[in-house]
Amino acid sequence: MSPQLQPFVPFDLERWQSTWEHRVRFNLSESGVHALTVAELLALAGEGPATIQDLPLGYGQSDGSVELRRAIAALYPGAEAEHVTVTIGSAEANFVVCWALFGAGRRAVIVAPTYMQMWGLAENAGTAVAPLWLRAERGWEPDPDDISRTIATGTDVVIVTDPNNPTGHVLSPEARAFIVARARAVGAWLVVDEVFQGAERAGRATPTWWGATDRTIVVGGLSKAYGLPGLRIGWIVSPPDVKRALLERHDYTVIGPGPLTDRLALLAIQQRTPLHARTRTILNANYPVLADWLTDLDDGLAWREPECGAICFVRYDHPVPSLDVVERARAERDVLLVPGDYFGMPGHLRFGYGGRTDDLHRALHVLTPALRESWRV
Ligand SMILES: Cc1ncc(COP(=O)(O)O)c(C=O)c1O
Repeated sequence: MSPQLQPFVPFDLERWQSTWEHRVRFNLSESGVHALTVAELLALAGEGPATIQDLPLGYGQSDGSVELRRAIAALYPGAEAEHVTVTIGSAEANFVVCWALFGAGRRAVIVAPTYMQMWGLAENAGTAVAPLWLRAERGWEPDPDDISRTIATGTDVVIVTDPNNPTGHVLSPEARAFIVARARAVGAWLVVDEVFQGAERAGRATPTWWGATDRTIVVGGLSKAYGLPGLRIGWIVSPPDVKRALLERHDYTVIGPGPLTDRLALLAIQQRTPLHARTRTILNANYPVLADWLTDLDDGLAWREPECGAICFVRYDHPVPSLDVVERARAERDVLLVPGDYFGMPGHLRFGYGGRTDDLHRALHVLTPALRESWRV
């Protein structure tokens, strides 16, 4: 008999999206805005096709070209190119950071609800997870007592996603300061996924957590605020000795980014002001469409206006599992949503509203009867 596969905690959210996102008519599962084309990015940068056509497709620099790392470092006060590791999406960034920090018998505090990648990786590594819940009744802020209680002696890593997915909330300076103080007091690593930074609807960029403690590692990327998820470029900013440990892992995952995406990523960072403005324009055109529709749909819905990202996390007041609601919307109406259960929050749905405005109108129109029928059961 052949050996069994190892037990494994899958990443339900990504499995759901990867399975269906290209097979549905309307994809409301995306957390970013609709993507630019290569031609649009080149035009924005004032470059012609030769910029990429003439690139030799050899291996790229494994930690990212020095030009790209310098451009990224310039976004983080006090950082230099040697603090930056370029990765394949922020997904790889989170993975190698977790690989370096997690292990059997370790303890991680994870601010939740959240994108469940690092949570699942902790479970797969035998690391105990203590959730630090954001409270809907506090406008998605954590309770200070919960911060003190969870970030206790013996905590190895504190993980924050700020701006947050799925709530779209940006933590208050007070909550941030308290989390930093507790992480410092207990000597924990502080890992902050900032991939939504730059997609704030009001245009005020969330300040980076980089430098909060000397054990802080931040993750960023081009998928959300830049509208370029298909470039698959993310990065880690870390102390140089941590970078060495991360690169040892990166050698096992992907080796490094390719020259094509490295070059396009450099153009994207150089054009971040117009790219972020484009993102903001899409978010501010579309959010009212979603909010008006939600208001008309059902009296029992509750949500807080998202500050950041193309995501709106909505609680419904009906005794139907969120998995059933999204499956019905997909199977019967060809619309993809994300169930709250994939964030550990039953009774919620995450709507992605960053698509083209006319598509969003059409998707919501066909979704109306599907949700009403689900909830009538
Ligand atoms: C908080 C967060 N981190 C990381 C990722 C992975 O993004 P990517 O690898 O496309 O940069 C996502 C994707 O939705 C996310 O929401």
